[in-house]
Amino acid sequence: MKGLFLTFEGTEGSGKSTQVTILAEKLKTLGYIVRTIREPGGTPIGEEIRHTLKHSNANHGMMSETELLLMNASRAQLVREIIRPALAAGEIVISDRFYDSTVAYQGYGRGLDREFIRELVSFAVGDTRPDLTLLLLVPVAVSEARRLARQPMLFKIPATPEEKTLPTPLPLRDRMEEADRSFFERVEEGYKAIGSSEPKRIKVIEATSSVESISQTVWAAVMPKLAGLEK
Ligand code: TMP
Repeated sequence: MKGLFLTFEGTEGSGKSTQVTILAEKLKTLGYIVRTIREPGGTPIGEEIRHTLKHSNANHGMMSETELLLMNASRAQLVREIIRPALAAGEIVISDRFYDSTVAYQGYGRGLDREFIRELVSFAVGDTRPDLTLLLLVPVAVSEARRLARQPMLFKIPATPEEKTLPTPLPLRDRMEEADRSFFERVEEGYKAIGSSEPKRIKVIEATSSVESISQTVWAAVMPKLAGLEK
């Protein structure tokens, strides 16, 4: 049995996570077995790596090379622990981000060597590649406004003695979101280049319209891929 591997890509605030949820619910209603995952993360080891990358108090000095390797360490684990077994069982796997994020963020955003990134990603994923990628594009200004609007909604539990003396709730810092606007402009530019480089795999969706109309576009792209898939 061979399942179906779908990935969603886009910058922060592109509405990916909402579309992952809508698509997963729709497929489940139709009787498919669906597994939703996210990157970095998705396994116990991967979630620890995610914490190190995003929220840990110790991550201020993280180098771009370290970031690249940790993203792919999380991915190597996720591919072997979750994705391959699920696909082998005929399930539909939907991932909120996969390796296109590495090309966009570490390649275009951080400026690391893209040829090396391709080799590293190949080492991490082997031949486990998405059947279809939904790439949600929004202008940088829209992404930035949505990112800033949701920041106060993320909180952490006080952990250190100093934090316990502070008024709660404490905002949850996200290292990835501390980058400047030019970084996110390069990421967006990267996503556009990725989208046009693999038109067969990647469906580019201009994601400024309503949630409903985006989900219809997503569905139109996913439906043909369901042919022959067992429930
Ligand atoms: P998110 O789950 O809220 O989208 O956060 C994940 C962050 O990690 C986001 O800023 C994008 C970034 N990221 C990379 O930089 N490279 C990667 O390979 C992946 C999967 C995510």
